[in-house]
Amino acid sequence: MTDQNLMEKIVSLAKRRGFVFPGSEIYGGLAGTFDYGPMGVVLKENIERLWLQMFRDDRDDMYGVDAAILMNPKMWESSGHIAGFSDPLVECEKCKKRFRADHLDDTKSCPECGGKLGEERQFNMMFKTHAGAMEDDSAAVYLRPETAGGIFANYKNVIDSIHPKLPFGIAQIGKAFRNEIAPRDFIFRLRELSQMEVEYFVHPREWEQAFKEWQEMMHLFAIAIGLPSDSIHELEIADTDRAHYSKRTIDFEFDYPFGRKELWGLAYRTDFDLSAHQKGSNTSLEYLDEETKEKFIPHVIEPSLGVDRTVLAILASAYREDELGGEGRTYLALAPKIAPVKAMVSPLLKNKPELVAKAREVRAELKKVHPAIAWDDNGNIGKRYRRQDEIGTPFCITIDFYTLGDPTTSSGQGTLKDTVTLRHRDTGEQERLTVAEAAARIRAAIE
Ligand code: GAP
Repeated sequence: MTDQNLMEKIVSLAKRRGFVFPGSEIYGGLAGTFDYGPMGVVLKENIERLWLQMFRDDRDDMYGVDAAILMNPKMWESSGHIAGFSDPLVECEKCKKRFRADHLDDTKSCPECGGKLGEERQFNMMFKTHAGAMEDDSAAVYLRPETAGGIFANYKNVIDSIHPKLPFGIAQIGKAFRNEIAPRDFIFRLRELSQMEVEYFVHPREWEQAFKEWQEMMHLFAIAIGLPSDSIHELEIADTDRAHYSKRTIDFEFDYPFGRKELWGLAYRTDFDLSAHQKGSNTSLEYLDEETKEKFIPHVIEPSLGVDRTVLAILASAYREDELGGEGRTYLALAPKIAPVKAMVSPLLKNKPELVAKAREVRAELKKVHPAIAWDDNGNIGKRYRRQDEIGTPFCITIDFYTLGDPTTSSGQGTLKDTVTLRHRDTGEQERLTVAEAAARIRAAIE
């Protein structure tokens, strides 16, 4: 399978099975926007929940905020985004198409029509709109280009309300917006994206230790969501390529079907942001160490994870095709922890009320382990398995006549009563288990 082919298959499966749809599709779409469908939304929530657990809730030094997307524009003046959050743009003098100069091999001629490309200029990527009824520049506001802004703006509020001791961090998940010149590669480069970000505030002399700890945490998270370790690569970003606020950045790159590209970033933002906001807002953002009485502006380590790029990395690494029982099939080898459906329960035949009743009972029992236990009685059992394989459901549980203890269908005269078949997604192997044993299998897999 070529990489291009694989990407097409992932996009097709994502749509067919309700993971990701093109944004506003009935109107022909809108470049750089995608919508998450019934399966995608749960996959995304499972990723976010695991991130919240590992990056915030399991720690005593982390706090959450959920800040507004629209912020006072002075915020972005101080942060340097109005002056410097831009990409190099070139325009074709003939067809007028615009391109990101750093994505072109030849910056002299148009890749579409061969026309002459104009001078390179910087294009600011922030989306600008107006707050209130005035539509002039006095009412200009921006959709935040990174969730980090809302964290820096609330650093003082968190200190004043919670009184955390340094080091501590603030975590936030939310939308960010970038007017990308060339959105592309499905949900890799979007104009509307979601980020999971931490700003971790430390004493300046402790930044290296904190950087190392978050670097390790990002690898642990990659393992937790099921990304193979050998598909993640660290790239130390050179001085000349780092964002204006960073003194050290490591990109966590992933082997996507279209090449090795940035998945997440880890940056040492020094005291750049807090110092700039202290100056811009005329508000002290110094931290007072109550024990030593030292007053200083904390430095910041920022692990920044794009949700959409994470979803794409998961789909790409989980996509499988094989032969099972003489038939080709496609399945997603998702880690059970993040799979949208943990198990599917099914009566062998849907027109046998006693099978259906028993299957409902089994499903209710398994739902005590996890609520995401699906029901499917549509079509034959093979088709039901194929559907679940494509959404990455780790287990399928079938209730048949043996479960009812029917002596006419069981040579063991009812010895299999109250047992079910549990089918494993990746191998297709089936086991005969009691309901309690099936519950234990699911519990063990998702824990
Ligand atoms: N607060 C730091 C920051 O925003 P960034 O490297 O520009 O740094 C962080 O973005 C992460 O956000 C990236 O590593 C990536 O996962 C995600 N991201 C950035 N731009 C994106 C885009 N246009 N579409 C999808 N995800 C994007």
